[in-house]
Amino acid sequence: MPRLVMFSTKPYDQRGFDSEAVGRQVEIEYLETRMDVHTVALAQGADAVCIFVNDDASEPVLEALANGGTKIVALRCAGFNNVDLDAAGRLGITVVRVPSYSPNAVAEHTIALILSLNRHIHRAYNRVRDGNFALDGLVGFDVAGTTAAVIGTGQIGMIVARLLWHFRCDVVAVDPYRDQHLLDLGVEYVELDEALERSDIVTLNCPLVDETHHLIDAEAIAKMKPGAMLVNTGRGALIDTVAVLDGLKSGQVGSLALDVYEEEGELFFEDRSAEIIDDDVFARLLTLPNVLITAHQAFLTREALGAIAETTIANVLTVASGSTSPNQL
Ligand code: NAI
Repeated sequence: MPRLVMFSTKPYDQRGFDSEAVGRQVEIEYLETRMDVHTVALAQGADAVCIFVNDDASEPVLEALANGGTKIVALRCAGFNNVDLDAAGRLGITVVRVPSYSPNAVAEHTIALILSLNRHIHRAYNRVRDGNFALDGLVGFDVAGTTAAVIGTGQIGMIVARLLWHFRCDVVAVDPYRDQHLLDLGVEYVELDEALERSDIVTLNCPLVDETHHLIDAEAIAKMKPGAMLVNTGRGALIDTVAVLDGLKSGQVGSLALDVYEEEGELFFEDRSAEIIDDDVFARLLTLPNVLITAHQAFLTREALGAIAETTIANVLTVASGSTSPNQL
């Protein structure tokens, strides 16, 4: 029976995996710690490790895994920017992922961020709880009739675009591949520059790869429609955060919603409410009234957690039995 060591485990992960593992030929050991060069030894002798978005699967960590006899790295997420795939291939480690668990979960969270940020729900909630029923500062705009750009219309972006279309936005899309269903709805595929120039709302739903690193940098921000809303539920480093902060300060960026942050590995998924945040860029963002941040929770629905556990266990069992998983990278 393959032994799977799971890093960065939270109670909600364990519940999903425990119920999915019932009756399956797999032994799971749960660790709370993140996988990195210091903790990787905890997986010594495991057939597979299961990791999440902020675990470190760089070359030295993969080398340690290979030396310890581990042959499978199972990502329990879609993005794989934290894994050195070349090194994995060289070391004979098979990397599997969960390409799709609930694109609805991420797309719906993206829409939740857009609506909340626009109508200042995050501020209104606190005001009302504080007995402050003043409305000054809470003026939003009608989403209907605005132009919204969806950057990346894969599984998640396609749903985001469809939902925005249902809100009666003019939806423009940027993607080297055109989705026929979106074209049929009247969504227009354009180049990034044109999307930035035309749009009141820009949402990033593409993967983080070399060519999308800092896709939204100072130059791109200068091309945006002044005062536009920027939303990132993709990966933190799609955005040059310092440049966006400058854009917010100048008013060029009207508002910002993030579910991901380029330095989130040092912050997210832990209770740090009693600590002093020493990331000054992040701390400054938190002070701005037109910034709404969630801590990488777009995926967090019951349906998505169940699907993640089901696919991950299937991935591990398939590869451990010597077969090829359709979710191999
Ligand atoms: P997908 O692979 O189905 O779609 C990505 C799309 O982006 C593809 O259509 C691709 O052609 C397009 N793309 C690639 N490079 C591009 C570029 N330079 N400009 C415009 N489009 C480009 O992936 P999916 O499932 O839609 O997920 C997208 C990303 O969302 C993931 O890579 C992951 O980083 C992120 N994600 C975030 C989650 C969260 O909890 N915040 C959860 C799941 C995924």
